[in-house]
Amino acid sequence: MAILEVNNLRKKFDNTEILKGISFNMEKGQTLSIIGSSGSGKTTLLRCLNFLETPDAGTITVNGNLLFDGAVGHKKGEDLREKRLHFGMVFQQFNLFPQYTALENVILAPKLEGKDKDIEQIRENGKILLDKMGLSDRLNNYPHQLSGGQQQRVAIARALALQPDILCFDEPTSALDPELTGEVLKVIRELADNHTTMIIVTHEIGFAKDVSDEIIFMDGGVIAEQGTPAQVIDNPANERTRQFLSNYNG
Ligand SMILES: Nc1ncnc2c1ncn2[C@@H]1O[C@H](COP(=O)(O)OP(=O)(O)OP(=O)(O)O)[C@@H](O)[C@H]1O
Ligand SMILES: [Mg+2]
Repeated sequence: MAILEVNNLRKKFDNTEILKGISFNMEKGQTLSIIGSSGSGKTTLLRCLNFLETPDAGTITVNGNLLFDGAVGHKKGEDLREKRLHFGMVFQQFNLFPQYTALENVILAPKLEGKDKDIEQIRENGKILLDKMGLSDRLNNYPHQLSGGQQQRVAIARALALQPDILCFDEPTSALDPELTGEVLKVIRELADNHTTMIIVTHEIGFAKDVSDEIIFMDGGVIAEQGTPAQVIDNPANERTRQFLSNYNG
């Protein structure tokens, strides 16, 4: 069974349709990368999946549970927090809480969520996650004391702390200096090797090709092409995909 089923998702802003009927499935443990030119709707799609935006139409199903049905919309006053927990989100700009240390950033949501009442256990889990991100010596540093690459790795640990079904990244390295990009791509690659289910919006085409099971090329609010990296990147069938990729190779 697919872990995620997205069917005919549509989203308008100010009467302009930005997502024009997006449908795809993904399997548990897979890495899906979404590529496409600026303005094609990649961020809007991720924000709809995380319910940071409400789609106008379509359905979102996770593990067989219908989380969103455009025919019904969200019920008035409905608490979206629980639905959001299915998705973790890592943003381009890290979005850490500046007043909290690395460890506090990671454990804040699990503490508030209160699933695990044992604060020591929550702290222990947070330390384990930061250790996996190569940050065991940075637990008590504040965001301003960390490099961009370190901050982004804290943000990844924070997203993992709530054990989402699907971890989403929106251009996780594009705010980083080139020499810091590698350390973030390395931890994402490790997550992929460990079969973390991930959707990665990225302009790092070479990385997407290496790390992904599946690639979606978005163009003008639709999925113009979808397939394995060998299909979409090495042998694109669609003229728009070819044009887009030639800008990277040329
Ligand atoms: N809140 C909003 N209100 C109005 N228009 C919006 C809003 N958010 C996005 N848009 C528009 O939707 C279109 C798609 O934007 P989106 O951010 O999803 O593109 P993208 O593929 O992520 O681009 P990029 O590669 O530059 O990040 C753009 O034309 C953008 O201006
Ligand atoms: Mg974007």
